[in-house]
Amino acid sequence: MTAIVTEGLSKTYKSLGKAPVHSLSDLNLTVEENEVFGFLGRNGAGKTTTIKLLTGLIHPTAGRAALFGTDIITPDARRMVGYMPEQPYFYEYLTPRETIEFYARLRGLTAEEREREWEQISALLDLRDIANRRIRGFSKGMRQRVGFAVALVGDPPLLILDEPMSGLDPLGRRMIRELILQMRDRGKTIFFSSHVLSDVEEICARVGILVSGKLAACDRISALVGDVAKSVEICARGLDSAFIANLGGQVISHEERKEGGHRLVVQDTEAANQLVVEINRAGGTLLSLHPVQESLEDFFTRIQEGAQVALPEEKQPAALAAAEE
Ligand SMILES: Nc1ncnc2c1ncn2[C@@H]1O[C@H](COP(=O)(O)OP(=O)(O)O)[C@@H](O)[C@H]1O
Ligand SMILES: [Mg+2]
Repeated sequence: MTAIVTEGLSKTYKSLGKAPVHSLSDLNLTVEENEVFGFLGRNGAGKTTTIKLLTGLIHPTAGRAALFGTDIITPDARRMVGYMPEQPYFYEYLTPRETIEFYARLRGLTAEEREREWEQISALLDLRDIANRRIRGFSKGMRQRVGFAVALVGDPPLLILDEPMSGLDPLGRRMIRELILQMRDRGKTIFFSSHVLSDVEEICARVGILVSGKLAACDRISALVGDVAKSVEICARGLDSAFIANLGGQVISHEERKEGGHRLVVQDTEAANQLVVEINRAGGTLLSLHPVQESLEDFFTRIQEGAQVALPEEKQPAALAAAEE
């Protein structure tokens, strides 16, 4: 089943005497069940706006969306989602245990279920040692753990996390990454936003990149970066100084290796082919030829600078059609 489908989802903020702000424009997105989806974009790109729309905190100006086939405008959709806001708000005088209890009551769980919920969640997030301490004195990392715990209350199939790693040290970031993967292994779908590439690169099957409220790219990371060879590296030996001196402009860099070989970098595969012919003609020996692939970081930068990337065709979302009846 499809976990998230959006169709033309848009949000424009209007306030008196100000130009309208198109925070999200015509978002068409599909996230499959049990997928870890990374939603990337710089500050102000529209990530939080999208997440608030999906969690029903704000209403779309246009378009619609469904979670597991349930339209986001219906309260039932809320039950599918565990949500962690960008800056989780807590009742500072409560303890983690009381906080989980509070949200479990909101979800309508019985006393017995609430007890079981605490047992499971506190073990998972390592909250037992801090179970009865007030949140007031907590570090960012501890708060993030409690925030994640709150999202898990009621065992919802979909987790929507708004910048879950922001403000954390490397250890804290790793903890969140591991939790996300653990949740995926338990069958959950995870949709999370980030403005930091390394957060998504390791754990996401697919990413969407938002630029100024528009989805600029959406695909598997390997597909986004895979087919663009940034340059080609060629190693050869047996080349004399005359050959090196006459290298054409297509050679970006050249360095001589200790063992007597040469490392040459050219712009593209066409230039690489040409160079290989020249090396052979000059009586040199080709040692290796490697395409140097574009990293997600290169791609992200290129996209921000306005590069056009084909978006995959969106199939007519069956989930939305069903929700309409
Ligand atoms: N309540 C609001 N009123 C007016 N503009 C808003 C409001 N909330 C967000 N925006 C604007 O919408 C754009 C996207 O914001 P946001 O979704 O928070 O981006 P992100 O989470 O990617 O940093 C920004 O230009 C922001 O200033
Ligand atoms: Mg945000």
